[in-house]
Parts: sequence; structure tokens; C-alpha cells
Amino acid sequence: MTARIIDGKERAAEVCRMVTDAVALLKVERGVVPGLAVVLVGDDPASQVYVRNKAKQTLACGMRSLEHRLPVTATEAEVLALVGVLNRDPGVDGILVQLPLPKHIAEAAVIEAIDPGKDVDGFHPVNAGRLASNAPGLVPCTPLGCVLLAKSVMPELRGLEAVVIGRSNIVGKPVAQLLLREDCTVTIAHSRTRDLPGIVRRADLVVAAVGRPGMVRGDWIKPGAIVIDVGINRVPGEGGKSRLVGDVAFGEAVAVAGAITPVPGGVGPMTIACLLQNTLTAAKARRG
Ligand code: GUN
Repeated sequence: MTARIIDGKERAAEVCRMVTDAVALLKVERGVVPGLAVVLVGDDPASQVYVRNKAKQTLACGMRSLEHRLPVTATEAEVLALVGVLNRDPGVDGILVQLPLPKHIAEAAVIEAIDPGKDVDGFHPVNAGRLASNAPGLVPCTPLGCVLLAKSVMPELRGLEAVVIGRSNIVGKPVAQLLLREDCTVTIAHSRTRDLPGIVRRADLVVAAVGRPGMVRGDWIKPGAIVIDVGINRVPGEGGKSRLVGDVAFGEAVAVAGAITPVPGGVGPMTIACLLQNTLTAAKARRG
């Protein structure tokens, strides 16, 4: 059996089309054009690429993109001051501070300074709490993208055994909460889990978010399972070039799984699509 490849680019394009239509309607009916502010501190090359892509797609959906770049030498107080300005700016519906921040800046302090209503990353403790208590709020983009991709091949996830590998605040914990909301039976596995292969073999749905290239092997996968690979790992490739691989040994898993996301072209594109959806949600909620 060969798994169905879940096309993240295509699913992301669908989400972007829906957002684009809704943004156009908002403009006609209410004269509102949602605005997303992205803050980049320093000159990390990968972050620069992400921020550029976010800005491009924000504009492509008909929204306003506001970029704020601070030098790597910026102080935590300066970043907090900028967040304060964006919180108070009525033209800003969403605020995203690109992570990682330079080491001298406390990420938690910056995240907690963002107005939870504008926290389109869904990282603020208020939004994390809302997610955990099943209240409406902004949900982290990558976890939302994972669930939408799983539902694109199996619209009803109720009752599935789901195993999430990774317990980060950004992916592992929120994706587990979302799967619980979908009535899955959820296990969160991590680096200290005993018999990880045995736990993963039980799963009808696997979400791998550990940041270790090819760690999840094909013989860990239950035949027919849905595999969502969140990993984006740069490894040496042919001819001195690097290439991107996921946390799942794709060549092995594709022969066993029922459906699997590729890297690149799986979860990655969905993250930005969900960010745009969150910006629209924030704009609508804030403007009543
Ligand atoms: N850096 C890598 N992924 C993300 C993300 O989803 N949000 C932010 N703010 N920074 C990131």
C-alpha cells in the first residue's frame, strides 16, 4: 500500500481563497481592511524568509501588511514599547512577533505583552487557557493547520487514537488540545517517553513535532494511519546543497501509512494560511 499524499499547498490555497473572499466582503460591507503587523528583531536568515512570505501572502489575501524590523541590539524594553504601540493602534488587528528572539530578550515577557485579542499566533497565556478550557479564542497556527490537514482526509476524527510526539507550547500541547476537542483519545509523547515506537504503533493519527530529522521510522506506523509531519529540518543534501526533511522517515512511512504530509509542502504552507485566517478572525472579533 502507498499512502495518500496530503497536499498542504492545495489545502492552504483553499483556506487563502476563503480568507480572500471574506476580506473582500468585509471591505465592501464595513469598509474594513484587516491589518497584520509582523515584528522581526535581528537578522536571522530563516526568520527573514518566513517574514517575507507572511507579508507577501497577507497582501495577496487583500489585507494590509505592516512590517517592523528592529536591530539585533534592540533591548527588551524597546520591543515591549513597540508591542504597546501596536496594541493601541486601531489599524492593527493582528500582531506577530517572529520567534526566536535574540537571547537577551525574554520571549515570555514579549508574548504576554501582546493584546490577547490581537495575538494571531495564539501564544498568549490567555489564549492558551481559552484553548484548554474550550472557550473561543485565537488558536496557534501550526496546530490548527495540522488538524485541518488530518480532517481533509478524514473529516470525522472522533474516537481515533492520536499520538502527538513533542510537548512544546507552540505545537505539541496545543495540537493535543485541538485533537481532544475533536474527541480523539490523545497521548502526548516526548523525549523521555519509554517505548516510543510501541506508543506510536497504537496511533490512528500521528503528529510528529520533535525537530529531529527522520526520527519516526516506518515500522512505528500502524498500517493505514494518518501521519502529520510538523518537522522542518535542514540536512546536508547532494552536491553540497542542503535539503528539507521532516521528523518522519518519509520513504519508509509512505509505504505503511494511509495518508501522510510531505516536507516541504505539507504543514508549512498551512501555517501561514491559518495565520491569515486568524488575522481575519481577530479583525472581525475586535470590530464587533
Ligand atoms: N517562528 C517559527 N514559527 C513561528 C510561529 O509560528 N510564530 C512565530 N511568531 N514565530 C515563529
